[in-house]
Amino acid sequence: MAVGVFDSGLGGLTVYDAVSKRLPDVAFVYYGDNAHAPYGVRDADDIFNLTCRGVERLWEEGCDLVILACNTASAAALKRMQESWVPKDKRVLGVFVPMIEALTERKWGDNSPPREVAVKHVALFATPATVASRAFQRELAYRAIGVDVEAQPCGGVVDAIETGDEILAEALVRSHVEALKRRMPHPEAAILGCTHYPLMQSVFQEALGPEVTVYSQANLVAESLTDYLTRHPEFEGAGKVSKFLTTGKPASVSTHATQFLRRRIAFEAA
Ligand code: DGL
Repeated sequence: MAVGVFDSGLGGLTVYDAVSKRLPDVAFVYYGDNAHAPYGVRDADDIFNLTCRGVERLWEEGCDLVILACNTASAAALKRMQESWVPKDKRVLGVFVPMIEALTERKWGDNSPPREVAVKHVALFATPATVASRAFQRELAYRAIGVDVEAQPCGGVVDAIETGDEILAEALVRSHVEALKRRMPHPEAAILGCTHYPLMQSVFQEALGPEVTVYSQANLVAESLTDYLTRHPEFEGAGKVSKFLTTGKPASVSTHATQFLRRRIAFEAA
């Protein structure tokens, strides 16, 4: 069985790392669209077309279930894909749902009226496209009342990570946290709403302070995928081999992936 993991570039590796540890018997095929990253500055049509192309490539690898390990694609393209494009025998799931479930402490299918939740002041760090989509606030509002969300578009961070420039990425994270804190001085929780950002999680935590709970998606998605595969074993695709595909230059993508995950990752051309 094989499951596809899609991202615009390296960020989805944070999700890959968690799901592959949680489900060691499942083969995962990773697709990084590094040639077109970052998605966060693209428009919704562009993100839709690029995401569909990547997902089709993962279907070719025998992955009937694909996780969009990319908030930007989940926010800007997933609904349209599910409504008009994904065939009945395939599934494409995003990374928003497990995060909203964790924050609101309720299951996705729970359609009871929105209610008060423990956290009241939430900082959201995401790409400009995810912030502009307001998808996170919309989904949260269906389920929770009285939560004040302050969103910070973190321009430049994905680019710095993709080019392996950790020093620049760190400086940008600190300045985005400062900018957010000027508008919301005391957030109780912070959402890392881009799968690249856990690669900088310690910097976010340090800049935010120890009293802020930082939610990142990787482990939440791993639990949610485990539960999904137990309930829907029919979507364990026919693929058998784990591999890493990129639309970018395999040698440099492998170097940056190895640098960030601190273990050898070898990409091949998609
Ligand atoms: N990892 C993607 C996300 O979660 C990055 C998006 C981008 O390429 O800008 O949003």
